[in-house]
Amino acid sequence: MKPHDPHMDWGMKNRYLSVFNKKSGRTIFYAVDHGYFMGPTTGLDDMEKAIHPVVDYADALMLTRGALRSAVDPWLRKPISLRISSGTSILNEDLLHEGLAVEIEEAVRLNAAFVAFSVMVGTPTSERDTILEFSRAVDQAERYGIPMLGVVAVGRGLNRDARYLSLATRMVGELGARLVKTYYCEGFERVVDTSLVPVVIAGGKKMPEKAALQMARNALDAGAIGVDMGRNVFQAENPVAMMQALAKLVHEDGTVEDAYAYYEELKAKG
Ligand code: R5P
Repeated sequence: MKPHDPHMDWGMKNRYLSVFNKKSGRTIFYAVDHGYFMGPTTGLDDMEKAIHPVVDYADALMLTRGALRSAVDPWLRKPISLRISSGTSILNEDLLHEGLAVEIEEAVRLNAAFVAFSVMVGTPTSERDTILEFSRAVDQAERYGIPMLGVVAVGRGLNRDARYLSLATRMVGELGARLVKTYYCEGFERVVDTSLVPVVIAGGKKMPEKAALQMARNALDAGAIGVDMGRNVFQAENPVAMMQALAKLVHEDGTVEDAYAYYEELKAKG
């Protein structure tokens, strides 16, 4: 699937393409938005340190407005994917029961290239609210030519398998996302092939560096257009090296072995 969608006007297209590497046609979002429902997540205690200089090797930065204001150098020349949904914390049983928390004018003021919103499919309490609020957010974003990154949220007790993820990913595209962030799973080709729009994968919980690179490789091979990774970068032993290794994999089509060797080499150099 190509990142280019002919049904976009110039402003939308320009913002959309700003997150892609022109040569590879792929993207790496660096996700550091976890604090909006998880508080001071391991690796994000010092946001400035977590962001700079790791972000230099990513294509886009995904975060909240609070983090953007307090921790990001305005000289940053990377597009911002602004988290605009929220509503519950990690302490709440009804996890990720989210609504629109940042109006589109604020996203414009903050110079967002993308806005991001989590949709919860399949839970008894949050499904309807998140779908309707997401649709309202898409209407606002489209009005201003800002592409929506639809985030597939997986509720407690739901299976992250190809059946569930293709259903949720497809729904988020049908509802108006221009790009969907979802999870990797066995049989991921089905998720990509049945999606209406390009797909990036989230990294999920921290795993060994080589395993995270392998997951990214598998997702790209199955047709993902990139990754939107957080914990597997900022919780890595060396986050800057991990981001560079990911870039080798995503943009240079490197093998897992090459990317991991590169990670080890950069780490050794400190
Ligand atoms: C979580 O809801 C946030 O949207 C994160 O941006 C997303 O999960 C990606 O981060 P990670 O790779 O840590 O899963």
